[in-house]
Amino acid sequence: MKEQDRQLFKRLFAYSRPYLRLIFVSMIASLVVAGADVTMAKLVQPLIDTVIVSGDRYWINMVPVFVVGLAAVKGGSRFIQEYFIKNAGQLIVQDVRNDIYSHSLSLSMGYYVDTPSGTLMSRILNDVGYMQRSAADVLVDAIRESFTLVGLTALAFYTDWRLACVAFVVLPVSVLPAIIIGRKIRENTRRGQRTMGNLTAVLQETFSGIKVIKAFGTERDETNRFRHENATFYKFFKKVLKYDSATAPVNEILASFGVGGVLWYGINRVISGALTQGELFSFVASIVMLYGPVKRLTRVSNVFQKSMGAAERVFEVLDEVPAIQDKPDAKSIPRCRGDVVFDQVTFAYETDPVLKDFSITAAQGEVVALVGPSGAGKTTVVGLLSRFYDPTGGAIYVDGHDLREITLDSLRQNVALVDQETFLFNETIANNIRYSSPNASDDEVIEAARLAYADEFICELPEGYQTSIGDRGVRLSGGQRQRLCIARAILRNAPILILDEATSALDTESETMVQKALANLMKDRTTFVIAHRLSTIMHADKIVVLEGGMVRAVGRHGDLVEQDSLYQRLYQMQFQG
Ligand SMILES: Nc1ncnc2c1ncn2[C@@H]1O[C@H](COP(=O)(O)OP(=O)(O)OP(=O)(O)O)[C@@H](O)[C@H]1O
Ligand SMILES: [Mg+2]
Repeated sequence: MKEQDRQLFKRLFAYSRPYLRLIFVSMIASLVVAGADVTMAKLVQPLIDTVIVSGDRYWINMVPVFVVGLAAVKGGSRFIQEYFIKNAGQLIVQDVRNDIYSHSLSLSMGYYVDTPSGTLMSRILNDVGYMQRSAADVLVDAIRESFTLVGLTALAFYTDWRLACVAFVVLPVSVLPAIIIGRKIRENTRRGQRTMGNLTAVLQETFSGIKVIKAFGTERDETNRFRHENATFYKFFKKVLKYDSATAPVNEILASFGVGGVLWYGINRVISGALTQGELFSFVASIVMLYGPVKRLTRVSNVFQKSMGAAERVFEVLDEVPAIQDKPDAKSIPRCRGDVVFDQVTFAYETDPVLKDFSITAAQGEVVALVGPSGAGKTTVVGLLSRFYDPTGGAIYVDGHDLREITLDSLRQNVALVDQETFLFNETIANNIRYSSPNASDDEVIEAARLAYADEFICELPEGYQTSIGDRGVRLSGGQRQRLCIARAILRNAPILILDEATSALDTESETMVQKALANLMKDRTTFVIAHRLSTIMHADKIVVLEGGMVRAVGRHGDLVEQDSLYQRLYQMQFQG
């Protein structure tokens, strides 16, 4: 085993530690299975040499009893062995899946920008599954087959060591192709699994972007894209299948050399009187029965190779270090007042700075509107305040605490976000509102909905607050969805609010209601709002005009509209009419 494999295996083994008892029981049972096989091979000798030759009635009648008894013992043990080990395998997978899921949630936004969600889904579903099949298979088969192998080999040597030497000359020869085949399988499985990731990514994109696909009539293009990825997957998998299918026949042919040689030499030994007929048949039985374990052990190595490839990809995600993490001495702050300071903040996603020397302050309860051309850095500013990323220079303070000095949990308790993208879960209306504050009572949920001007339309729904929203909330209008998200933020009741106003225009009535809901939400909170509505900039305490990642001007609407040429232009283009 290579060093890397050893490391992987060690980590896999660490996951089986809690289930060692199950594995131990299974191991004992597998000893019994192996023992039954060896006993069976051994009993061939007295059967031929004593029972058949002597013709003793009593022993002849005992033959079926022995056969059935042995089979029952073997069957029972085999059941225990498989059932226990498969359970252990499934429990291990459950743990790995839970770990990888919770770990991926801890990864920062930057990771999700770089990694398609389909890839992650494939790791959690397919790769972990592969690990399971192999973790269990490797353990079940390797343990049992090794015992059987050792037992039968010992019996063969015990019966006639010279004959055994002839038989085992061929063994090393058959191991070599198994190793080569194993390597090929691993290589192709790895590539195949990566394309399985692409396939999942296509699926994930298709179903979340189904509206765009239908609107632009690109069903055929998407089908072709899917077909292409699907075919690529098959291309790699075909090779795996080829090598998988080759393993057994190659071994069988190689084994036939052993059996042929044994029969030829063994018959000569019987004729010369060195061996009884019973001993020869017992010997041949053990060699033939050996073929099964050898075959399955080489297959185990193939499965093992597959699982190592999968484990590699799983641990790759588990080893990903979250870019944003609590410092070891991070403090948990209670509910803050809501004083926010950006102090000479510089930030770059990659190398080019997106924010340069960005400084603004917002006192408790103030509404700060961010305006600026597309790409100016507005979304970036509020992303930094949510600590999706850390600044590359300067610092951001909440109530005087540097964001990097406080726990993410306590920061997020203090910040509520209402995004343009009104994401709703496939859940009841009540639970969607309650999402921000899981312990909220029904009355609190209804109160939040009322303040968000959502109560009325919710009550008109067939099941009111218990109405289930379809996937991504397709059964609600844009304005209704916005108001649900606002209700969710109201219930959160955080002192700092981040608002990315929707750009899509609503009809006047809906717009008025959303505006009133927003006014309720912003009341007594420090609000950073990426403004797209006229009413927002009119009522803002402070408007920050951003250009190329820098603060160009700060002021109230009345002043800016007179003093700043960019603001004048933006005002005319974006906010008027
Ligand atoms: N994840 C990212 N990785 C690299 N660059 C990014 C990333 N997100 C944004 N950028 C870049 O940072 C700059 C600022 O983007 P930002 O999204 O903050 O602009 P914005 O002011 O919100 O624009 P808009 O009004 O169009 O939403 C842009 O040049 C953009 O290309
Ligand atoms: Mg933006």
